[in-house]
Amino acid sequence: MRIALSTGGGDAPGLNAVIRAAVLSARTRGWDVLGIKRGFSGLLGEDEVIKLTAETVKGIGSLGGTILRTTNRGSPFAYPIQQPDGSWLEIDRSDELVENARNLGIEAIISIGGDGSLKIASQLQTKGMRIICVPKTIDNDVAGTVTTFGFDTAVNTAMEAIDKLHTTAESHDRVMVLEVMGRDAGFIALHAGVAGAANVILIPEIAWDIDVICEKIMDNHEAGQLSSIVVVAEGSKPKGGTQSIIGESLPGQERRVGGIAERLGYEIQRRTGKETRSIVLGHLQRGGSPTGYDRLLATRFGAAAVQAVAEKRWGTMVALQSPNIVYLPIEEVLRETKRVDLNHDVVQAARMTGISFGD
Ligand code: F6P
Repeated sequence: MRIALSTGGGDAPGLNAVIRAAVLSARTRGWDVLGIKRGFSGLLGEDEVIKLTAETVKGIGSLGGTILRTTNRGSPFAYPIQQPDGSWLEIDRSDELVENARNLGIEAIISIGGDGSLKIASQLQTKGMRIICVPKTIDNDVAGTVTTFGFDTAVNTAMEAIDKLHTTAESHDRVMVLEVMGRDAGFIALHAGVAGAANVILIPEIAWDIDVICEKIMDNHEAGQLSSIVVVAEGSKPKGGTQSIIGESLPGQERRVGGIAERLGYEIQRRTGKETRSIVLGHLQRGGSPTGYDRLLATRFGAAAVQAVAEKRWGTMVALQSPNIVYLPIEEVLRETKRVDLNHDVVQAARMTGISFGD
């Protein structure tokens, strides 16, 4: 058996631990393992395909990033090619990919990625490719799995930032607005905000009202708490408003949201008169060494993916449905959208402990 691994979409701490576990599990069975570089670019002649051995993956489980590198703009079905006049054309290169995989003797692919990679996997299946998916995203917004690796690390990074902001905010009686990742789902803001004892948490799932946010800050102030921490997910928006878009996306990429903390901070200071500063945590949440939880989950996913290949569970995604690892049809996962459930006990616990969602 010869299998290949690919990592696609934004990186997440734990990707290397999945690669390590999959390679070691496959090698134990005597299989050959190849690594497709930069998403599927390695199969399109835009990058290389390398051999993965026990030696290649030695010591990588604790490293952030991905030794295979990744891309969030290379769907083989809509591959962006720049024209001589500077414009971009998206072309379908999937047949080329399938043929190159066949020529390399690849019998199955383990695709590690988020929603975008799942969609590509689903399309490749229709071309006869045998695929197993491993869910990845720091945003925790892949359906069917309780959590994804990378999320815990991102939450801890954001929580540590909040801890640090508390002490400086208290020293200056300031309001601190921290922008965290989460384009469509507010899991990072919610979990880090609750764990870090924020006063206000703003998530894409709940449209907020600036008056309510300012009221909460002033209530705190009058109760003697002179500083406040606002955690805002980059994709959150005011009632009746739209997401804050930053910069331009390159062809084939999703929209880039961001800049909401700056706007919000300005408005809070203007309305409350309280000195306010804003901070964007950005890609710090994606980097660094995965937590123990993420290393363990990633290792379980990597081993389970190889097990799925052995059992010929083509077209499935490994998922955590605590306490077990299960296999779900990719199509089923893609039909659902995972967002913060507003009735979930974490949201309730936040409200009960006095955190405002600005609604
Ligand atoms: O998909 C995860 C995510 O972290 C989003 O929350 C964020 O908007 C996006 O990636 C940013 O990705 P990049 O800057 O790599 O395009």
